[in-house]
Amino acid sequence: MKTKTIAAGVTAAALAAAATVQYKTKKHCPLCAAKSLINKTRLSQSADTGYNSGVALTPPMGWSSWNLFATKINEDLIKQIADAMADSGLLEAGYQYVNIDDCWQASTRDNSGRLQCDKATFPNGIKSLADYVNLRGLKLGIYSSNGTLTCEDYPASLRHEAIDADTFASWGIEYFKYDFCHNVAIPSKAPKVTLVEFSKLGEASFAQFKPSEIKLKGLARIVKDNSKKNDSGEYIDGVSSRSGSFSVEVNADESGEYAVTLTVRKESDNDRFLRVMVNGKDEYHMYLSKGRVSQGCRRIQQVITLDKGMNTVEFDNPVGSRMDSAAIQYKLMGRELKRATKQYALENGTEEKPIVFSICEWGLNRPYKWGLEAGNLWRTTPDIKAVWASVLGIYETNVRLYKYSAQGAWNDPDMLEVGNGNLTYEENKAHFSLWCMMCAPLILGNDVRKFIKPDGTVDKESKVYQILTKKEMIAIDQDALAVQCRRIKTGIVDILVKPLENNSVAVCVFNKGNGEASTKVDISKIANLGYVNLASKSSYEVLDVWENEKFECNTEITAATKKHGVKVYIIK
Ligand code: GLA
Repeated sequence: MKTKTIAAGVTAAALAAAATVQYKTKKHCPLCAAKSLINKTRLSQSADTGYNSGVALTPPMGWSSWNLFATKINEDLIKQIADAMADSGLLEAGYQYVNIDDCWQASTRDNSGRLQCDKATFPNGIKSLADYVNLRGLKLGIYSSNGTLTCEDYPASLRHEAIDADTFASWGIEYFKYDFCHNVAIPSKAPKVTLVEFSKLGEASFAQFKPSEIKLKGLARIVKDNSKKNDSGEYIDGVSSRSGSFSVEVNADESGEYAVTLTVRKESDNDRFLRVMVNGKDEYHMYLSKGRVSQGCRRIQQVITLDKGMNTVEFDNPVGSRMDSAAIQYKLMGRELKRATKQYALENGTEEKPIVFSICEWGLNRPYKWGLEAGNLWRTTPDIKAVWASVLGIYETNVRLYKYSAQGAWNDPDMLEVGNGNLTYEENKAHFSLWCMMCAPLILGNDVRKFIKPDGTVDKESKVYQILTKKEMIAIDQDALAVQCRRIKTGIVDILVKPLENNSVAVCVFNKGNGEASTKVDISKIANLGYVNLASKSSYEVLDVWENEKFECNTEITAATKKHGVKVYIIK
């Protein structure tokens, strides 16, 4: 796996190690001085080396059907939500995606193998719903699973990545959440190959390679095989679990599609997998299910594109762990989404609608390690619930993952429960503030229709509405520096610090305890943090975000917080 480089020559890991020494003054802290230097040479965290789809450059904002409506969704509900988002000012506040979660699908694919929606609950189809949502100035999102079925057991997208990406692109989908239910890991075993052949489509093969004619790397080796059914008398072994690879050079007289056919030994013990890389850039996957007998050979085939002239075609199995498998599967879907939206635009003469790719594998396979290259955001935890313990637990996991968050590639602590369940006003405010401090996607999970009063006006008195539209808080989440907060003090009360553009900083004092607390925040110490761009001064301008109060402050703020409450300050 690649290590993400944050500043020239400085790895994320080194920076994290340095960051464990916190809160020291410049005078006594050579490490802090080094960090300040790094800060100055910072290239700004960006997803340049990553998925980089040109969207979600700030954490995506929108609404999803799951948290409140779960399985009970339909076309009218989605339209009403879109109307409410446009009419209530939520769209204006930045919430632009209307995401249909699980349960939009029919129980079978159509005759062409495409996913289709439930004909009773979505009578006009998803494309027409996307058009409706677009007319309201919003974008439509949809959901599937990286498995054989979704979490609610509807048809899902594993091994249907290309066709499903094409379907979503043709419907005008702009946000795609990809779950992990019913996932089947890619086998780490490679087939034992006895012959590699290339042919033009519909013609006999024009190039054949026996194992002895094939270039081997790593632990790949030739094994003699005297079984009568193996014509070449040998096969290639030692390719499973990242241990080796083999490659051939094949000359194509014109560029285009060709079939590569492998003759492989039949095995009854394990399913098998090979990755095919053509000229180091185009990736294809070949699967072989375990068979009925343990002897004899069978042929597996894949259509690939070759360039005119010499091509290097390399075969390996890069799956050494569950994490490798998940990463490969999510990256594949990400590539297909990018391909599909481009292709659709090209073929239809329309402007491309890139899709925000939301990875939802619940943090099982450390998605923060590979998510940057696979998609735009990745869930870091199991599902959120509208109870305080859930919000707190998710925060505790997600806050530690700051070093993996980058512009266009965000840690996702799950959708918001603000306004759901019995969360108190303080808890709703804290939940929202913590998510903003952590650069989290802000995907609402409540019934936003309630913000429109029977007379059609907006219920601006609603505390939930006030929280969700708090301009300064949203600005912290969406800040152009795109840096997730770090926790600089933990205990009953946590202090979080998030650098902002224009040399300012957001500080959140979070009271996890069951009583009131009074906490001193030393601004001069915050100014000394290496990753913060706040000049050391004798006096700072402070905005208390939730109290709407501005004040001047020398070096220390005393923050009074209620049970499960927060104070958020913007300091410059
Ligand atoms: C999983 C996801 C949830 C939701 C449901 C839908 O549990 O984590 O966010 O999408 O599936 O079935």
